Amino acid sequence: MNKVDPYEGKRVSAPSVAIVLAAGDGTRMNSTLPKVLHPILDRPIILHVLGNLSQLSLDSIVVVTSHPEVDAAIRAEFPDVTIVHQTERNGTADAVEVALSEVGAHIQRALIVPGDAPLLSPTILGDLVAVVDSPVTLLSAITSNPFGYGRIVRSGGLVTEIVEEKDATVEQRRITEVNAGVYWVEVNLLRTLLPLITTNNQQNEKYLTDIVKLAREQSIEISAIQARDFNAVQGVNNRIQLAYAGKSMQRVVNSYWMLKGVTIEDPETTWIGLDVVIASDVTLKSNTQLRGKTSIATGAVIGPDVDVTDCTIAEDAKVLKSVAINAHIGKSATVGPFSYLRPGAQLHEHAKVGAYVEVKNSVIGERSKVPHLSYVGDATIGKDSNIGAGTVFVNYDGVAKHKTEVGDGVRIGSDTMLVAPVRIGNGAYTAAGSVITDDVPAGAMAVARERQRNIVEWVKRKRPGTVSAQAAERDNT
Ligand code: UD1
Ligand code: CA
Repeated sequence: MNKVDPYEGKRVSAPSVAIVLAAGDGTRMNSTLPKVLHPILDRPIILHVLGNLSQLSLDSIVVVTSHPEVDAAIRAEFPDVTIVHQTERNGTADAVEVALSEVGAHIQRALIVPGDAPLLSPTILGDLVAVVDSPVTLLSAITSNPFGYGRIVRSGGLVTEIVEEKDATVEQRRITEVNAGVYWVEVNLLRTLLPLITTNNQQNEKYLTDIVKLAREQSIEISAIQARDFNAVQGVNNRIQLAYAGKSMQRVVNSYWMLKGVTIEDPETTWIGLDVVIASDVTLKSNTQLRGKTSIATGAVIGPDVDVTDCTIAEDAKVLKSVAINAHIGKSATVGPFSYLRPGAQLHEHAKVGAYVEVKNSVIGERSKVPHLSYVGDATIGKDSNIGAGTVFVNYDGVAKHKTEVGDGVRIGSDTMLVAPVRIGNGAYTAAGSVITDDVPAGAMAVARERQRNIVEWVKRKRPGTVSAQAAERDNT
C-alpha cells in the first residue's frame, strides 16, 4: 500500500529492526502454495507486508521463513532483507528467537509483525514505533467478530495478558479487543523473556503472546495502541480471510483514487493494482480490473467489463468490455466491445478497434479503423485506413511469423486474407473475399478471387419438389 498510504513520520532514533514472522505452514489455507504467497491484488501477501515495513526506514528487516519459494519471492523484490529459517514450527515465540540470531547487539528495539497481515499500513506501524517510553507496546483492535484472534485481557484498564482463542474461557472469548500480533519491544527484554516461554497450552507451541504475562510478572510496563479500524490489522489464516483482506485493500485503494478525482461507478467490482497510475477525470465503469503498470490519462472511460494489464491509455480513450495486455491505446482511440489487445498492440490517436477484433504486435495508425471480426497480427496500418469486417492478417506460415504493411487511406474489403509478407500501397483497395498474396501498388484495386458464374435453373433440375424449387417457381411465374 506504499503509494496509497505513504508514511511521512519521523525516523525512529534508536537502532531498530523489523522482524516478520512468515514460517508458518498456513495449514488453514489447505493449499500447496505457502500462505504468505497467496496474492491480493496480484501481489503475494508477504510482499505487501514488506512494502509497508520498508516505508518506516528501520535499520534492517529480518524475515523468518521455512519455504524456499517464499525466499525467492522476497529476494526478487527486497534483496536487502535478511532471511532466516525456522526449521521446526514451534510457534511465534520460537520464530522470534530464531530471528534474534540475526539481530546485532547494538539493535535496541524490534518491531515484530506477522507475515500474514497485508493491511498493516505504514501509518499504523509508524504510530506504534513513535512510542518509545514503554518497553513493550502492542497493537490491538476492536472487532465484533474476534473469533480466532488472541484476546487482550485487561485489569483496571491495564493489559495483563493475551489469551489465544483455543485457550480462552467462555468469558474471555467474549472480549472484543484482539491482538494484532504486532509488538514494538526492547530487544534485551525479548532476549530475557523468550527463553522463559513454554509450550504449556492447547497448541503445544511457544506463544509470543506470553511475553505480555511474563513482563507483567516482572512489573514491566506494557502499553497498547488501539488501531482505529480493525480491517487494517486483520490477518489471513484461511481463504475466507484472504477474500476479506482483499476487499479491505480494494476499498483503501479505490477510496484513494476517488479522492484523487477518479470516478469509480461501482467500487465493489473495480480492482486497481498498486502500481497503476490514474489521472483525474478518468471514469471507471463497473467490473473493471486494472493491473500491473497500467497508466490512464485524463478523460478516458474504461469499462464496464474491462481487464487491462501493463497498458498505457491516453486522454479521452474509451475501452468497453475488452481485454488488453501490454498495449498502448492512443488519445481518443476506442476499443470494444469484445475485443482483445495483445502485447505490442499500438493504437494511435482516434484509431478504432471495434467488436470481436484481436490485435497483436501491430500499429494501427491515426483514424484507422478495424471495426468488426478481424485478426491483426504483426502489421503496421497507416493513417485513415479501413479494414473490412472479417479480415485476417495471415501472419503465420506454420513455422515463422511475417509482417504485413498497409499504407494510408487504404480500403481493405470485407473478408480479405492478407497473406504475409505483403504490402498494400497507399490508397489501394482490395475486393471483398480476396486472398492477397502479392504486394498491391498504391491506388490499385486488387481482386484475388474466383469470378462468379450462375448455373441457371440448377435447383429446378437438381432439387425438384423442395421448398427452394417451389420458391424459385413463384419467382419465375
Ligand atoms: C497470532 C497470535 C494472535 C493474534 C494473531 C493476529 C500467537 C500465539 N497468536 O495468531 O494472538 O491475534 O496472530 O493475526 O502469536 N509463524 C511462524 N512460525 C511459527 C508459527 C507462526 O513464523 O512457528 C508465523 C506465521 O507464518 C504467521 C505468523 O507467524 O505469519 C502468525 O502465526 P499464525 O499461526 O497465523 O497465528 P494466529 O493463529 O493468527
Ligand atoms: Ca494469522
